[in-house]
Amino acid sequence: MEVKIGDVLDNVLNFYGPAIRPGKVIVEKRYDSKDVIRGFPSEITQVFSNLVENALEALTPGGILQLHVLASRDWRNPTRCGVRVYIADNGPGISGEDRRRIFEPFFTTKGEKGTGLGLWVAKGIVASSSSE
Ligand SMILES: Nc1ncnc2c1ncn2[C@@H]1O[C@H](COP(=O)(O)OP(=O)(O)OP(=O)(O)O)[C@@H](O)[C@H]1O
Ligand SMILES: [Mg+2]
Repeated sequence: MEVKIGDVLDNVLNFYGPAIRPGKVIVEKRYDSKDVIRGFPSEITQVFSNLVENALEALTPGGILQLHVLASRDWRNPTRCGVRVYIADNGPGISGEDRRRIFEPFFTTKGEKGTGLGLWVAKGIVASSSSE
């Protein structure tokens, strides 16, 4: 199935609407690519929703959430064209030590508030779709 990334991101932003009302977090959207990607809309939505959720949890009021979609190439194999999606926030970031573990199931720094499954699930979806 072909999915427009911009549509998926807008749906995710609508879903988290109350958390990103003006004055809370500033959203900067830049959808330069109209390209579609192949996949299941529900899975792709799950991936980006987990990333946006993490960004919103990391940001304090007035922080910036950036969503950028652009046509790009695989850096390791430049003949392979595709769509690159940046989901970025200007929160505290992730320490080098944590960065090694963020894709592990149940790794969380949020105590009772996190299950630590978000990125693990996202990685699994991306890995299974890219082998198709
Ligand atoms: N945007 C971000 N800024 C800072 N830290 C992040 C960000 N995204 C992920 N992390 C770190 O990675 C960890 C794992 O993220 P993940 O989404 O897998 O789990 P979680 O957010 O803790 O819990 P869950 O997603 O299951 O509610 C987080 O606990 C946090 O330490
Ligand atoms: Mg999460």
